Amino acid sequence: MADDRPILMFDSGVGGLSVLAPTRALLPAASYVYVADNGGFPYGTKSEAEIAARVPALLGRLVERHRPRLVTIACNTASTIVLAAVRAALDLPVVGTVPAIKPAAEQSVTRAFGVLGTDATVRQPYVDDLSARFAADCLVLRHGSARLVELAEAKLRGDRTYVDDYRAVLSGLLDQPGGERIDTVVLACTHFPLVAEELAAAAPRPLRFVDGGPGIARRIAHLTQGQCWPKAPSGEAVFTAPIETSDALRSALASHSLDRLSIL
Ligand code: DGL
Repeated sequence: MADDRPILMFDSGVGGLSVLAPTRALLPAASYVYVADNGGFPYGTKSEAEIAARVPALLGRLVERHRPRLVTIACNTASTIVLAAVRAALDLPVVGTVPAIKPAAEQSVTRAFGVLGTDATVRQPYVDDLSARFAADCLVLRHGSARLVELAEAKLRGDRTYVDDYRAVLSGLLDQPGGERIDTVVLACTHFPLVAEELAAAAPRPLRFVDGGPGIARRIAHLTQGQCWPKAPSGEAVFTAPIETSDALRSALASHSLDRLSIL
């Protein structure tokens, strides 16, 4: 029997596409509704109270409208602040995105790694907890960058971005005391894997970049194991405010099989 319920993925912008890609690779038969809260973008410079006032209510509306089988908050900022509240409010599985500190601690040879996220994410106690639990023997340096979120949005819109911009972002991390020991960088914002190549090209030495996308995809596959899928899988991108979609953005969305666009 076919089951038309989609998987709903939520982010402030295009960042969640870095979670959608590995998920679709594991679950190609699923339908996806990808939501970009461009009306609330950016999240990373907002207060905890602003995120808490916006995200659970918005997800409630989206779930009512799209009736998904599962919700993924494909955004570190929202997840580290409101995951528990969203889980309590919704009567379906909710998968969150948390900084990939555990895999970074497993992979770092120098026992020093960086966490690159939004300002809101890197100040969360959640990051302290993960560091204490999984990286107690490591130096963990953090840097929040709103600029890198903008650069990822610009790249997907088709705007040109420059190596110096990426270099400046990395300096915020690598130039901290002990930063010269860093061999691994956690991309703790879903926007950042979209510019991983640019970051690697701007880095002063080879760095290993890790993100949560593949782990989240495996978690979604586990939670939906044994379920039926739609006869004809579909993909829809939903924006929460009017947006001028450039050709580049439309083709980026289409490359993730998001062929239909709508405004909430
Ligand atoms: N993509 C989001 C994250 O993972 C937030 C970016 C933003 O809106 O500042 O944190």
